[in-house]
Amino acid sequence: MKTFYVTTPIYYANSLPHLGHLYTMIVADTIARSKRQRGIDTLFLTGTDEHGINIERAAQKASRTPKEQADYVVSYYKKMTAEFGLDGEHGGYDIFMRTTEPFHYQGVSEFWRRVAKAKTPKGNTAIYKGHYEGWFCAACAAYKTEDEYHEPKTEGAAPTCLIHDTALDRISEDSYFFRLSDYDQELLSLYENRPDFVRPESRNNEVISFVRGGLQDLSVSRLRTSVSWGVPVPDDPDHTMYVWFDALINYITAIGFGNEERERVFGFEKYWPALHLVGKDILRFHAVYWPAFLLAAGVELPRAIVAHGMWVDPSGRKMSKTIGNIVELDVLSRHFPADAIRYFCLREMVFGQDGRFGYEALIDRANSDLASGLGNLSSRTLTMISRYCEGRIPSGHIPEEKLLLAKRTGVDTDETTIAGFIEHARDQFLQHFESFAFSRALEVAWSVVARVDKMISDAKPWDLAKDENQKQTLNAVLYRAAESLRWLCVLLYPVMPGASSDVSSQLGLSDSSATTDPAQLKWGALVEGQPIGDIKPTFPRIDKAKTMAAINQGTEPSGVHVTEADAIAGATTQANTKPAPPMTHATEADAVPCAEGVTSFIEIGDFAKVDLRVGEVLSAERVPKADKLLLLEIDIGEEKPRQVLAGIAQYYEPEKLVGRKVVVVANLKPRKLRGFESQGMVVAASIGEEGRPVIATFTEDVPNGARLK
Ligand code: MSP
Repeated sequence: MKTFYVTTPIYYANSLPHLGHLYTMIVADTIARSKRQRGIDTLFLTGTDEHGINIERAAQKASRTPKEQADYVVSYYKKMTAEFGLDGEHGGYDIFMRTTEPFHYQGVSEFWRRVAKAKTPKGNTAIYKGHYEGWFCAACAAYKTEDEYHEPKTEGAAPTCLIHDTALDRISEDSYFFRLSDYDQELLSLYENRPDFVRPESRNNEVISFVRGGLQDLSVSRLRTSVSWGVPVPDDPDHTMYVWFDALINYITAIGFGNEERERVFGFEKYWPALHLVGKDILRFHAVYWPAFLLAAGVELPRAIVAHGMWVDPSGRKMSKTIGNIVELDVLSRHFPADAIRYFCLREMVFGQDGRFGYEALIDRANSDLASGLGNLSSRTLTMISRYCEGRIPSGHIPEEKLLLAKRTGVDTDETTIAGFIEHARDQFLQHFESFAFSRALEVAWSVVARVDKMISDAKPWDLAKDENQKQTLNAVLYRAAESLRWLCVLLYPVMPGASSDVSSQLGLSDSSATTDPAQLKWGALVEGQPIGDIKPTFPRIDKAKTMAAINQGTEPSGVHVTEADAIAGATTQANTKPAPPMTHATEADAVPCAEGVTSFIEIGDFAKVDLRVGEVLSAERVPKADKLLLLEIDIGEEKPRQVLAGIAQYYEPEKLVGRKVVVVANLKPRKLRGFESQGMVVAASIGEEGRPVIATFTEDVPNGARLK
């Protein structure tokens, strides 16, 4: 039997996962399901990377041991993967790998020993002992060369990581090195001989030019006295292995490399080589270091390294805790069905490129493509079958003597027209799918939705139903719609397993979508006379205003927007409140609409709780080391002026604010930001996707302290 093995990166156990981590799992799960549909014996691996200084530090900060830290993160992963239907129980991953498991230690040690014994292609020992002197980013778990860090602004300070913007660690210690520099020619021949080894092509080119630029030997151990939380180097307990060395090997230890028991249960021999799905951020580790390690150990190379782009926020910023724009899994799972999220991720991101994530965009897609698109097609088809065909799949055949009559209604009497269309679409869909172009594949699937929808609208079954002579025409139209739905369920099963199974069972089919090979679909297999199942809405519409308001409520301290939120984002580490609102296109006006389309109201009493006062800015200055913050003194008619921090420094010159009348939320709980107490909030409109603040003001003279009602 054919086998297939797909992996995600194993995620650092220092912090909880967000949408980015979920995304790779969704893609891997989709690929795994599509292989299983074809009867391929498939193994899907995900898990956590639990060693290294980063985890040690996170644990220390949380007053946990590193293992407790890892356990905590893993339990969250398990809870969330279950909620999103990605765990084993829901047909998702087969193995949740943890690098702290004893079998991994065993396999990694075996691998190290093999590499330590090996000679490089240039005849040198593959591992040697030396001295490492340089900079290391704990968050990347990577050594940094000069072009990979920002020089320090002040003399004597550490440089900062280009990616994380955090200070690098200076390392000067004895270390084992892997002689990577001896593998350049082997790697270049690999990329040349196997152009599909690194995908997509643009990433392949990136990797080739990196290797052509020259490879440096890689430090693969740390002194136990500096990093104790790691796998000990065999026969040298003073050293622990570099976390990436240990982590990459998980892909083979998970399935039995170096451990007989595990080999029996899963099977390295059976499943290896794997397709590694990774974010482009860790491509170099997978496409350069990993193959070199494998070449040294004499282990077969992976099937392919497939790198996707990164999710960024609507303004194009990468997700970061500091910015506060991370899409939290809790929020996603509270407000959206798993299938809608899967669909959005695969439809919206052009595979390989970065994608923008916004809650509004997610709601729009779910409503247009799922609720109004596929969902509507399915419910109208099934409802008409229930109403006009006594709830049984009608015949798709128009008898000879009725063909002319049918033609008069404009219905295409040749069934092969629609069958041909859908077969062609299926072929295109599968082609795109095979090359990871999920977005294009889904576009094709939706061309089928549109085509079938049009067929129904043109044929007007509700009119045909009024004419007994057109019964067969009506039946044929509904049969074609139902059969198309059956095909769509099979095609879309890997992307939306829950929804596809739902629609399948509403069509009266036991859930066969999971095990039907789409390439083998034949038009006309839906059986006439078969009773359909209970009809229920598969993709309920998402109430945009309500959902956005709920999401914003969960992340913002009050209903008023912008300056407070930005202030917090600018304040970064010291804010002990929730950070800026996450990825959303929404302005407050969108979230609580008050013109047409009002869907959520507050009581006047709710509004009265907010004490809004007219204030006059007496002084304004920038806050040191906080790009976004201004420190304002505002007279709101009280004995003493209020000190208020506002996140508007990028848009307002402090001098120009002095003397301006503003609106202040006067009863907001004071809080400290960057060491300054903020005693209120300045109200501003939020403009455009970047949320440019425009301060609310008055065109008439108003006294300080006047209340806004
Ligand atoms: N532990 C290493 C991987 C070792 S694999 C042998 C690691 N962990 S990580 O927690 O930082 O995960 C990085 C991966 O998470 C990315 O490669 C990607 O798969 C996923 N993502 C994290 N943030 C992401 C986005 N913003 N967008 C898309 N995927 C992202 O690196």
